[in-house]
Amino acid sequence: MSKTAQLILDGKTYELPVTIGTEDEHAIDIRNLRDLTGHITLDVGYKNTGATTSAITFLDGETGILRYRGYPIEQLAEKSSFLEVAHLLIYGELPTKATLDDFSSKITRHTLIHEDMKQFYMAFPRKAHPMGIMAAMISSLSTFYPESLETNRDPEAVNLTIYRLMAKISTIAAWSYKKSVGHPIVYPLNKLNYVENFLNMMFAMPTEEYKIDPVVVQALETLLILHADHEQNCSASTVRMVGSSQANLFSSIAAGVIALWGPLHGGANQEVIEMLEMIQKDGGNIQKWVDKAKDKNDPFRLMGFGHRVYKNFDPRARIIKKACDDVLLKLGVNDEILDLAKALEEVALKDEYFIERKLYPNVDFYSGIIYKAIGIPKEMFTVMFAIGRLPGWIAQWKEMIANKEPIGRPRQIYTGPGERNYSNIANR
Ligand code: SDX
Repeated sequence: MSKTAQLILDGKTYELPVTIGTEDEHAIDIRNLRDLTGHITLDVGYKNTGATTSAITFLDGETGILRYRGYPIEQLAEKSSFLEVAHLLIYGELPTKATLDDFSSKITRHTLIHEDMKQFYMAFPRKAHPMGIMAAMISSLSTFYPESLETNRDPEAVNLTIYRLMAKISTIAAWSYKKSVGHPIVYPLNKLNYVENFLNMMFAMPTEEYKIDPVVVQALETLLILHADHEQNCSASTVRMVGSSQANLFSSIAAGVIALWGPLHGGANQEVIEMLEMIQKDGGNIQKWVDKAKDKNDPFRLMGFGHRVYKNFDPRARIIKKACDDVLLKLGVNDEILDLAKALEEVALKDEYFIERKLYPNVDFYSGIIYKAIGIPKEMFTVMFAIGRLPGWIAQWKEMIANKEPIGRPRQIYTGPGERNYSNIANR
């Protein structure tokens, strides 16, 4: 069914085509607008602008729907594994057992990082934020694998880079934690699966074996699945933008890591725990902090609340909130911060300011409570988000390349000074 939009401008009527998506989303296609009308559109922050068409993830912010390649997030979180979801996102289909085993073993075989890269950790300052380390290390991978610079054309080279990224991000992350606590690094073990291997590299010590707890493994699998993709969010759009210049995949992913670090994006999960600890330290006066979050003159925001797209519950937050109770109970962890988070949510969701602006807990509001219960420090929370989001970033980059999308280059409306002549400094 074709549909058009009419634009009346300076007394002239223009017909613009309307693109309709699988889930009946409608978009006015303005690719010829400037040629037709001499006008561009202006939408700071792209709140109403679609940058692309995509077959990877569908989310409906009004009804709280999230699906990866059509599969509801609730089913994947309950029944799938992180590597199976990574395959689904990157290659478009749930793998057969043989395909998954092959994908998993290829990733296992690339978990080591070049011994020369180990030296980088000696140079980083002790308190270096692990997101800064991760961005530097992932970008440096392109210097150790120069053949990756040609990945845009050769599918096999793309796959090799995908295996290397999926495998090495865990090692890079775990080693940044070991660096931060002054413990010796732990090498990957091929006999362990993806999540077990990460946990072992994080927590095993030369003095004692790390006992892998299936409850912890399952909790991490679920968290990584829930973070795996989220259509055109800030970091995924950054990966697509950088990749559109034909920069290699390692560099495009490193750019995504840096975009995710921001406290308004993936950095929020660390901010949430710091906010809750601050409220707890301040005597737990929730109403005081909710009022501060509402006060336009106060820079304080309720971290982990609100979302550009979800104007209803973030389905991931609902799943994580439930998982919090299960995991903490099974681990025998009693964390007052969880009770504080629930109380804060209750107060906020009854407050007109939050109701009117449709501000609900997002994926970052509860995730840190589980990471904390597992023993992951808050500086590593956004690193965990990056590990989870990697397959989504790869899928978005791959789709942009496959669709032969043009280099991203938005327009602007200039509001600076009109033409003027240069004056010598003596005359200024
Ligand atoms: C992620 O895009 C994605 O999909 C991201 C993500 C993913 O999976 O990739 O889901 C992951 O980034 C989740 C969001 C994590 N960030 C936070 O939790 C930080 C706190 N949240 C906010 O900063 C904010 O809600 C954003 C950044 C998430 C969304 O900002 P928008 O869409 O630009 O909305 P806005 O800032 O224009 O807010 C609209 C109104 C404003 O009030 P008014 O000017 O209309 O009076 O709501 C207010 C805002 O002041 N508001 C908040 C608030 N969030 C929005 N007020 C208090 N506390 C908040 N958290």
